[in-house]
Amino acid sequence: MNARKATKTEFRENIDRGTANTEKGAIMNNRRDFLKGSFLMAVGMVAGGSSTAFGSSGKFPAGIVYTRQDPGKWAEKIESHAPKVDVKGNKVTVTTEHTMSEKHYIVRHTLVSSDGRVIGGKTFYPSDKKAVSTHELSSGHGPKLYATSFCNLHDFWVTGFVLPNQ
Ligand SMILES: [Fe+2]
Repeated sequence: MNARKATKTEFRENIDRGTANTEKGAIMNNRRDFLKGSFLMAVGMVAGGSSTAFGSSGKFPAGIVYTRQDPGKWAEKIESHAPKVDVKGNKVTVTTEHTMSEKHYIVRHTLVSSDGRVIGGKTFYPSDKKAVSTHELSSGHGPKLYATSFCNLHDFWVTGFVLPNQ
C-alpha cells in the first residue's frame, strides 16, 4: 500500500477497494452472521498483511462486501448504505444515511486500519434516530482506514479512505 499523503480529492472520493458481486451469496440478515463475516474479514486482513489484505487485486470477497464502486446487487442502495466519513483532527465520524426502524436499520459501524486493527465500533438499535458514530484515532494505524456499516437487510458495506496529512 502506498503510504504517501492523500490529496484532498483522493480523500473526498473515499478511495474504495472492492469487488463486483456477481455471485448470489447468502444474505447476512442478522447480527450473528454479521459478526461472523466481520471476523472472517479481520482474519483476512491480518493474514494478508496491509498491502495484500485481499490479494494482489485489492478486491473484497464477492458476496460479502459491498462498496460505492462495487455495489453488486445493491446498486440502488449506494447512497443509503455506503458509509460516509468525515475527519476532523483525530476524530473520524462515520455516517450511514439510512432510516432507522424496527424492521430495517443499520446494525453496526466499525473503523478498521489496513492491518486489521479495529479502532472503534458502535452497535445501533432500531430505536436510534441516526446511524452516526465517532471514533478517536490513536497512533500507529497508518493512513489507510476502512469504515464499515452493516444493514440488517442490505448487508455489509465498506468505505476505504486515506487520512489527510498522514
Ligand atoms: Fe438497508
